[in-house]
Amino acid sequence: MTDLLLDTTEQVLTITFNRVDKKNSFTADMYAALADAFTQAQRDDAVRVVVIQGHETVFSAGNDIADFLKAPPVSPDVPVFRFMRAISSFTKPIVAAVCGPAVGIGSTMLFHCDLIYAGDNAAFSMPFVNLGVCPEAASSLLAPQRMGYVRAAEALLLGDPFSAEAALEMGLINRIVPPTEVNALARRQALRLAAKPQQPLLIAKRLMKQAQASLVATHMAEEADIFGRLLAEPAAREAFGAFLEKRKPNFENL
Ligand code: COA
Repeated sequence: MTDLLLDTTEQVLTITFNRVDKKNSFTADMYAALADAFTQAQRDDAVRVVVIQGHETVFSAGNDIADFLKAPPVSPDVPVFRFMRAISSFTKPIVAAVCGPAVGIGSTMLFHCDLIYAGDNAAFSMPFVNLGVCPEAASSLLAPQRMGYVRAAEALLLGDPFSAEAALEMGLINRIVPPTEVNALARRQALRLAAKPQQPLLIAKRLMKQAQASLVATHMAEEADIFGRLLAEPAAREAFGAFLEKRKPNFENL
C-alpha cells in the first residue's frame, strides 16, 4: 500500500506515513497494515528496531474521520484496536520522528514509543472530548503519569494542543531538531539500538514496562469499549459531522 511505506534496511524497519494530502490521517486499511507490520516485525529476527515517521510538515491528523464513520470501531478486533495492541505490546525498541501536527492517535501512539525526536514545528493534540469521544491507546492512564495530572487535564479535557518545547519540558520527547533533520536523527539512533546486544536490550525494555503492562492492556480495552459506544452518541455525531461540513460544532444541550 502506498499510504504506508515499509522498508527494512540494516535491521531497522522504517514505517513512513505517506498520505500527506489528507495530513497522514489513518484509514482502516492503514491501521490493518500497521498492525500487520508490527506483528510481523515482532516475529522477524531480521528486524531489531522499528522507526515510525511522517512527513516534514505533518506526522498524522489521527483517524480519517470520513473512513472512521463508514466503519466505526465497535469491536475489539477492528484494525485500529489491533494496531494499538500491537504497538503497545511490541517488545523491540520503537523510535518516532515527529514533525508538524500529531493529532489524536498521532499523539497517543507516542506513549508506546521508546525514543521520540521532534521537529520544532511539531504540535501535539489529543482533542477526544472536543470530538465527543474519549481518550484511547491507554492515554487516559499514560498521559497523567507522564505529564502530571493538571497538564494532562489541559491536553485531554480542554483538548489544548502543545508545542515541541512543552513536550520536551514535560519529558515526553527526547530532543528537538529542525524538521529536515528529524528522520535522519531517528535513523541514527535506531541504528545505535540495532547494534546493541539484543538480549540485554530487550530485557531492559521489558523491565521498564512490565510493572504496568497488564494495566495498560486492560485500560486500553476499557477505553476502546467506551469509545465505540460514545461514537453513536449525539455529541460525536455533531463533532464529526461538523468536521466533514467544515463548520464549528454546536454542543448546546449536549
Ligand atoms: N480525517 C480526514 N481528513 C482529514 C483529516 C482527518 N482526520 N485531517 C485532515 N484531513 C483532510 C482535510 O479534510 C483536507 O482535505 P481536503 O483537501 O479534501 O479538503 C486535507 O486533509 C487538508 O487538511 P486541512 O485541515 O486543510 O489542513 P491544515 O494544515 O489546515 O490543518 C490539521 C491540519 C491536522 C491541524 C487539521 O487538518 C485537523 O485538525 N484535522 C483533524 C484532526 C482530527 O480531529 N483528528 C481526529 C482525531 S480522533
